Amino acid sequence: MTELIHRQGREEILRSRAAMPTQPFDMSNPNPAITLKLAETAADLEGAIAVRMRVFVGEQGIPAGIEVDDADTAPDTVHAVALAGGAVIATGRLLPDVDGKGPHVGRMAVEQRWRRSGVGGQVLEFLENHARALGFRQITLHAQEYVKAFYAAHGYREVGAMFLEADIPHREMVKEL
Ligand SMILES: CC(C)(COP(=O)(O)OP(=O)(O)OC[C@H]1O[C@@H](n2cnc3c(N)ncnc32)[C@H](O)[C@@H]1OP(=O)(O)O)[C@@H](O)C(=O)NCCC(=O)NCCS
Repeated sequence: MTELIHRQGREEILRSRAAMPTQPFDMSNPNPAITLKLAETAADLEGAIAVRMRVFVGEQGIPAGIEVDDADTAPDTVHAVALAGGAVIATGRLLPDVDGKGPHVGRMAVEQRWRRSGVGGQVLEFLENHARALGFRQITLHAQEYVKAFYAAHGYREVGAMFLEADIPHREMVKEL
């Protein structure tokens, strides 16, 4: 993550999100190529947060004040973004290993119209490759119960009992890298 992103605090991100219109869709190019990268600029991070706001706040009803947190701008957090036609269409983040279970994947979100076409899987694999490159041999996440099959298909196994996070049933899952 660049210093540029870290200078942008949580409140500022929330303010700029509130002012931003919904993702523009270029009707002249309905199938643009998808590219994956680490978020490097403030615009990349804003694009990622915009997707998360539409998905987690708009669709799932999670309060905006919980959705964006201090970890988003922490120096050791990385965000992956998938871009199509210049717009962020999917994202996920990787938090550092704090409990010996490996770095923590979170905030996996794909714009509705791009789902079930492999983009979420690409973002997940991108974050796994990043964790591998950092030398980690295990990676962990908290999966929403309804979507465990997505992570299981990528080699994650369930650990422990169901728990609530933001009032949504979750399950811890881990994968050997
Ligand atoms: C979960 C999510 C990131 C998956 O991204 P995606 O791009 O749709 O997933 P992919 O296309 O790479 O993979 C699709 C496969 O994952 C599994 N899967 C994806 N969404 C699923 C769902 N809602 N229910 C069950 N299985 C699902 C299926 O095996 C699916 O294969 P299929 O389409 O052949 O049945 C995306 O659906 C999303 O953003 N959901 C809303 C936000 C969310 O709940 N995030 C997860 C928080 S833990």
